[in-house]
Amino acid sequence: MGESISPMNGGSGTYSYARNSTWQKNGAAAMENALKEAVMESLDLQNVLCDSNTFIVADLGCSVGPNTFYAMDTIIEAVQRKCNKSSLEFQVTFIDRIGNDFNTLFASLPEHGRNRNYFAAAVLGSFYGSLFPSSSVHIAYSSSALNWLSKMPEGSNATKIHYNGAPDAVVRAYETQFEEDMEVFFRCRAREIAAGGLMLFNMAAAPSRDVQHHVASMLTFIESILIDMVKEVYIVFALRKM
Ligand SMILES: C[S@@+](CC[C@H](N)C(=O)[O-])C[C@H]1O[C@@H](n2cnc3c(N)ncnc32)[C@H](O)[C@@H]1O
Repeated sequence: MGESISPMNGGSGTYSYARNSTWQKNGAAAMENALKEAVMESLDLQNVLCDSNTFIVADLGCSVGPNTFYAMDTIIEAVQRKCNKSSLEFQVTFIDRIGNDFNTLFASLPEHGRNRNYFAAAVLGSFYGSLFPSSSVHIAYSSSALNWLSKMPEGSNATKIHYNGAPDAVVRAYETQFEEDMEVFFRCRAREIAAGGLMLFNMAAAPSRDVQHHVASMLTFIESILIDMVKEVYIVFALRKM
């Protein structure tokens, strides 16, 4: 089975991801200080740049703005503060899968030179695979994206969107798929990130199988709404597609 693809809603309309991603924005904001600290303390600029003047940042699972723009600005500011070298140039590579609305992303990109101090490029592909040549990325960043598994786990239950209240076998199926995916993810990034570079990521998680946890109960609530909608034939496609 190939990777499943469920892009965020494109465009900039009422139901677009761009206008409905405050939750993800808050998740990224919560790690902002840790991110700045990591750049200050752990980025080995001399080693990472060698003699080059170009600093490469990659956002893995960028979707459309504005969250990705905000995160890239924060990273670049932190590197500039550490480096204090005005000749340093930045390139940001926005990565997402085919189906992501890259047109909206690039149409809403702040103007270069005025409100954006980096060159922008895009790579279409999965972060569960190779995306860059060896040792070519200096900071790899990912926010609210690594909780996307590469595919529906074998043996999972197609009527659930979360393991809350699921049988042990279903929980184990998700764990196994997550372990396999993360192994591939780390193997690829280990090859792509230059020595001295950084990988920064966040993802939502509920502690163990705490069914009372607010993330778990929120997902159970959404799940029950989706199942009701399927019964009412408001959603005609199977939950398996999610
Ligand atoms: C919830 S959005 C997060 C977007 C953005 N990082 C933010 O913080 O607002 C998750 C994004 O990850 C992307 N994604 C999921 N699995 C992916 C994969 N295997 N490779 C690349 N992107 C992926 C989705 O297409 C989606 O655009």
